[in-house]
Amino acid sequence: MEKRKTVVLGVTGSIAAYKAAEITSRLMKLNVDVRVIQTEGGAQFITPLTLETLSRAPVYGDQFSRETPYDVEHIALAKLADVFLVAPATANFIAKAANGVADDLLTTTYLATLAPVLIAPAMNVNMLTHPATEQNIRVLKERGVLFVEPEEGLLACGDVGRGRLAPVESIVSAVIALLEPKQDLAGKRILVTAGPTKESIDPVRFLSNHSSGKMGFSLAKAAAKRGAKVTLITGPVSLTTPAGVERVSITSSAELCEAVESRFSGCDALIMAAAPADFTVRNSAEHKIKKNGNDGLTLELVPTQDILKKVGQQKKHQLVMGFAAETQNMEENALAKLEKKNLDFIAANDVAAKDRGFAVDTNEITLYSRSGKKEQSGLKAKDEIADWLLDRLSAAWAEQQK
Ligand code: CTP
Repeated sequence: MEKRKTVVLGVTGSIAAYKAAEITSRLMKLNVDVRVIQTEGGAQFITPLTLETLSRAPVYGDQFSRETPYDVEHIALAKLADVFLVAPATANFIAKAANGVADDLLTTTYLATLAPVLIAPAMNVNMLTHPATEQNIRVLKERGVLFVEPEEGLLACGDVGRGRLAPVESIVSAVIALLEPKQDLAGKRILVTAGPTKESIDPVRFLSNHSSGKMGFSLAKAAAKRGAKVTLITGPVSLTTPAGVERVSITSSAELCEAVESRFSGCDALIMAAAPADFTVRNSAEHKIKKNGNDGLTLELVPTQDILKKVGQQKKHQLVMGFAAETQNMEENALAKLEKKNLDFIAANDVAAKDRGFAVDTNEITLYSRSGKKEQSGLKAKDEIADWLLDRLSAAWAEQQK
C-alpha cells in the first residue's frame, strides 16, 4: 500500500472486545494506521493501554477530555477515517447508529464521517434476532452501511446460535477490500439490467412486477468499483445511480429489448438482473379507460420478446448471466433456462423464501454454470452477492486467458 490509510476502529462493550487487539495488530502489520475509539462499555472489556500500545496512538474515549484540546475531536476523527470500522458492535451501538443518537464520541464520529462504514456485530443470539435489532440492521444496510456478519457457534453466555463476532481474518479482509478495491474487471465493458418494466394499459395504468432493482444496482456498483466500464439499463426504480456508471432508463419490455440489443455486440458481459414483463397489453388504450356500469374489463395480453434468448443466439465472445426467480423446482427450471437461453451462468433464487429476492436487501443464490458447476452463495447482503457473482465472472475470464 502506498499512502498510509487510516481505519478508525470503534470498540464497544462486548466480550469480543478483546479481539479488537488482534484486529488492530493485523491492520498495523498491513501498514494501515488505526485510531481507536472505545465506548465506556468497551473500556470495561479491554484496557485502553493494550489498544494504545498496539496502535501506537492515543485511544479516544471521553468526548470531553481536555488532553487533546486543539481539535474538535469527533470531526477530526471522522475526517481522518478512510474506513470507519466498529468491531465488536453491540446491539446498543447498532440501535443508536440506526436512529442517529449521538451521545458519546463513537456515535458522534459515526454521524460525522463520510467514510465507508463497516460493522461487525457480536451479541447474544436472541438480541441479534430481536425484531428491533433486525430492523436496525436493515435500516443501516439500506443506508449503505456494510456488515461483516456474525457467525454461528457457542456464545460467551453459554447459548448456541448466531452472534459470535466474525473471524478477525474476515473483518481484516473486508477492511482491506474497502481500502483498496481490486481492479480485476479493468478494461471490461459490462452491461447490467435492473428493475421491473411497466406495460401500459392506458395513459394512467400499467402492469408491472415486484422487482426493486436492488440486485442489478448492486452489481453495477460493484463492477464499476472493480474497474469495469458499466452501462446500467434500468426500469423505473427509485435508486441512485452508482458512481461512475452510465444509466439508461427504460419503461417497457420492448424498450429494454431495444436498449440491450443495440449495446450487446459492444459488451464483454451481459448480466440480466431485470425482470422484464413476459406479457404486454395488445393495443393499449390511447385514452383513460372508463368504467362502464358494472361490466368487467378484459385485457388481451401478448407475449413480449425473450430478450436473453434473442441475444443468446447472437452471442460471440460475451459472457451472459441470467437470473431465475423461482417459487418451486428451482434447479430444474434454472437449468432449463440456462440451456434455452444459451447462457454461461444462471443465478437462481427462491423468491418464496423470507430474506431472498424482491425488495429485501439480502439474497441467497445458487449459481449454475455452463460447465456444469453448481455453487451456493449463502445468505448475504445484495452488495456482497454482487461481488460474489462478479468473482465468478472474473474467474471465467481468467480461465479463458489460459
Ligand atoms: N428475461 C428476458 N426476457 C424476458 C423475460 C425474462 O431476458 N422477456 C430474462 C430475465 O431478465 C432473467 C431470465 O430471463 O435473467 C429468466 O427470467 P424469468 O422471468 O425467471 O424466466 P422466463 O424466461 O420469463 O420464464 P418463466 O417466467 O416462465 O419462469
